[in-house]
Amino acid sequence: MMKSRTEKLTTLWKWSAILLSILVVAMLLFKKESKIPDKKPSPAIIQEKQEKPKQVEAPKPDPETLVTAEALVAAGENIIYGTNDPQLNAGGRLPVGKGQCAFCHLFTEGQISTRCPDLRNIETRSHQRIQEARFIQFSKKYADKPEPDSQLKPKASTGGEYLIESLYCPSCYVVEGFGKEGSHDEISTMPFVSEMPMMLNDYEMVAVVAYLQAMDTPGDYSKVTARDDWERYFNQTLQIGTDKRPKFVRNEDLTKTALLEDSPEVMIEKMGCFICHKIPTIPIASIGLSGPELTMKTLAIKRINSPEYLKAVDLNRARAETPKEYVLESILDPAAFVVPGYGDGDGMPTHYGTKFTVGGLNKLVNFLMTLDENSGKDTSESSDSKKVSSGSKRD
Ligand code: HEC
Ligand code: HEC
Repeated sequence: MMKSRTEKLTTLWKWSAILLSILVVAMLLFKKESKIPDKKPSPAIIQEKQEKPKQVEAPKPDPETLVTAEALVAAGENIIYGTNDPQLNAGGRLPVGKGQCAFCHLFTEGQISTRCPDLRNIETRSHQRIQEARFIQFSKKYADKPEPDSQLKPKASTGGEYLIESLYCPSCYVVEGFGKEGSHDEISTMPFVSEMPMMLNDYEMVAVVAYLQAMDTPGDYSKVTARDDWERYFNQTLQIGTDKRPKFVRNEDLTKTALLEDSPEVMIEKMGCFICHKIPTIPIASIGLSGPELTMKTLAIKRINSPEYLKAVDLNRARAETPKEYVLESILDPAAFVVPGYGDGDGMPTHYGTKFTVGGLNKLVNFLMTLDENSGKDTSESSDSKKVSSGSKRD
């Protein structure tokens, strides 16, 4: 009696093990297959279908295969949408990848996104841009002194170079009607996508441009000249390959991404900062004990002037020069500097680079920069902490 039951159990176990292996193998095969780049660069429009896009990893660095037009376009697509199978969801949103472009720009019909220029037909437009009188004005304006934020002088001579320039120097040409308020369309509000939190490297910039060049002609890669454009523009050889910087934002799930429209309190809740930090004026953040209290108005400046921080700068680990940069760095690159007294162990999570939009991050950092030991204590002055400046990058 006992024996046969044991036998039954063993058989059951055996079968479960076999089934499990089959499942694992099937999953592995499926994953491998989904790595093959989709030949249709343009996002398919499927209105009602709310299927979760597959997360596809960028191809592994293998120089030769990474710079074919097809590979660049597929990599660019992945940087923009976080998937090679982007689908509009029922709410009219496209998935958003590490580049965050689809938060702002319109890429396909039916997409809800109005804040920034429509990028449909951008390949054709890129050639027209460099002929415009406005483009020539910008070149003249920065002919002697380069554009201050990028240190570049507008000089694009081909459509592809124009696209490269748009990414490395947004203010080298500002699309009419989309400039910073009060700047008469002289200053761009597009963030530097090579900086935090997107941190695209040169190869990724080229991939994104390749995607823009192929986007309007699915399956036809004849207009993809991004690598040549880049090398001509910078007069350098492109370093090929992606690196270890932030992975894709999984924006099918916006409830887990800190957005510009979120209040600081909502972001602190979504991101779980309150679990470890006390944050003045934020009711849910009154218990966290495993990190410092975030009174960054006074703390940040102390930190960057501390001998420990200066040592981290010498070691090329830390690089903040202003208090605000220190707060940004603490959130996006916590290993750059660990506050003395806190071990490297259960410290700041390291994945926040993929969890914030540019606007959201900027808003939260600005908010933290208003807080000191007295914030929220004196009720008559608590309105101080509510002063949150807007989310534009340059301020
Ligand atoms: C936070 C919003 C935002 C994000 C994110 C963003 N852009 Fe932009 N972009 C803008 C705005 C605003 C402009 C118009 C101002 C200007 O010309 O710089 C613009 C302009 C452009 C232009 C010039 C368009 C034209 O008609 O000449 C290109 C190309 C472009 N963006 C590509 C990208 C790509 C690719 C990404 C992602 C890697 C990206 N942008 C991310 C806001 C954004
Ligand atoms: C799992 C716990 C944990 C979470 C969650 C967490 N932090 Fe931290 N944080 C720490 C610890 C521990 C430190 C101190 C060690 C260090 O410097 O990395 C720290 C340091 C900081 C600092 C530097 C503080 C100083 O005194 O110089 C800032 C700013 C900061 N965190 C902001 C945030 C924000 C904003 C969030 C949410 C987006 C967050 N943290 C989420 C644990 C956490």
